[in-house]
Amino acid sequence: MIMRPHGKEKKLVFPYVFMACCFFFTIIGFSYFSQSNKKIESFDHEETGDGSVSNIPYQVLSWKPRTFHFPNFATKQQCEAIINMAKHKLKPSLLALRKGQTVADTNQNVRTSTGVFIASYEDESGILAAIEEKIAIATKLPRDNYEPFNILRYRLGQKYDSHRDAFDEVEYGTQRSQRLATFLLYLSSVEEGGETMFPFENGRNMNGRYDYQKCIGLKVKPKQGDAIFFYNLLPNGTIDQRSLHGSCPVIKGEKWVATKWIRDQSYGDYADEFVDLHNSNFEQN
Ligand SMILES: *[C@@H]1O[C@H](CO)[C@@H](O)[C@H](O)[C@H]1NC(C)=O
Repeated sequence: MIMRPHGKEKKLVFPYVFMACCFFFTIIGFSYFSQSNKKIESFDHEETGDGSVSNIPYQVLSWKPRTFHFPNFATKQQCEAIINMAKHKLKPSLLALRKGQTVADTNQNVRTSTGVFIASYEDESGILAAIEEKIAIATKLPRDNYEPFNILRYRLGQKYDSHRDAFDEVEYGTQRSQRLATFLLYLSSVEEGGETMFPFENGRNMNGRYDYQKCIGLKVKPKQGDAIFFYNLLPNGTIDQRSLHGSCPVIKGEKWVATKWIRDQSYGDYADEFVDLHNSNFEQN
């Protein structure tokens, strides 16, 4: 004879399981909620410090060169305000002079964007200053060492062949101050193309046959408000050859970026050497 479960018993099991589950999830929920709400207490800070505990998300894209991605670093409104500030002041971007070179000697096909330098003190809205402050917290490198923002626009087909932001003394002569790192904020999303590329990432393509135009290696797609940050120098202060990078041609859309070069010396100490560069919008690559 087959025993059938008693109807009454069957009804009783379900509420017990249900109640046990509710209890279990309530406990889990509570512990999760209390953890995520746990506020990190800030320390007393010194005069040059800051009362807030920062929480700026970023991802390591590569250690060779040291390259980091900061999603949603700036707001859409900030990006658009910066584009509007720069829009009417753009001039063709130039290249740094190598030893013995004149402006006419530089190959303008290497860099086809237009751009303008704007210092944060020139921006009365305070947006550039706020972004600079956030860059300082994110990179842990002081604002004293920052060059003015270089705002750039790349239109259809415009690009920047691969180059390094640090100056090789063999090519450019003795440097009193070096571009230690670069912070690049994407002011627009690009529909197609316009990626920032690092062809020599992790030692790739360093066989001497790379032509400086090909978009290969680590590629970062520009997205409005996102930023990347990379070091041009190794921790021991010599140039990281793998920091070679460029901008792939824009295929569809328009690319706007704000570049912040961070020096290894206080910028003010050497600013006089760069005044002419900025006035003529002549910029070192
Ligand atoms: C700096 O570090 C790199 C990588 O570790 C090394 O190859 C190079 O020889 C170092 N240079 C100096 C001058 O210390």
